[in-house]
Amino acid sequence: MDSWEAIRAECAACQKCVLGETRHNVVFGTGNPRAPILFVGEGPGEQEDLQGEPFVGPAGRFLDDMLSLIHLERSRDFYITNIVKCRPPRNRDPLGPEQDACIGYLRRQTALMRPRIIVCLGRIAAMRLIKPDFRITREHGQWFTKSGVEMTALYHPSALLRDPAKRPETFEDLVALREKILSVCPQVYEGQKI
Ligand code: URA
Repeated sequence: MDSWEAIRAECAACQKCVLGETRHNVVFGTGNPRAPILFVGEGPGEQEDLQGEPFVGPAGRFLDDMLSLIHLERSRDFYITNIVKCRPPRNRDPLGPEQDACIGYLRRQTALMRPRIIVCLGRIAAMRLIKPDFRITREHGQWFTKSGVEMTALYHPSALLRDPAKRPETFEDLVALREKILSVCPQVYEGQKI
């Protein structure tokens, strides 16, 4: 039987790819592992690497603000992690072999969590989890069903920080996400006035 502790311990000792040589901390994931919603980014940035937690830098703060618009709070309503658990140097995209080395951890996290909804943050996560030819500009906010799990992608919060013109579309995607939550896991909002 797999367990969160077993996966965490393996990640902490992992040297399956070169990112293990330069990391300060493995960024395993945070939030509520019993929640029905999983958010997946691409890989830790500088602050995440230093603090050992996902999405704690400027993009993370922006993400928290965005999600508060639809009354989602990470400690209560979702779990959040990345495709790769160690920081790629200078925040470059994680390479195929690095993703391949790391994806097993995310699969095991997902198997334990059994989320109803997976939200990919950005192109890299969407290409890995939804389909290899995912086009973020065209397909963000669309919904896909894989093995009974509802999946979508939002623009990465760093892209939204860089390009505020994308924000109105993301607001629409968030409204659709709230609707999806209300239909497949309404308990998330139970007791909340929305
Ligand atoms: N960007 C990501 O994709 N993940 C993080 O954890 C931080 C920034």
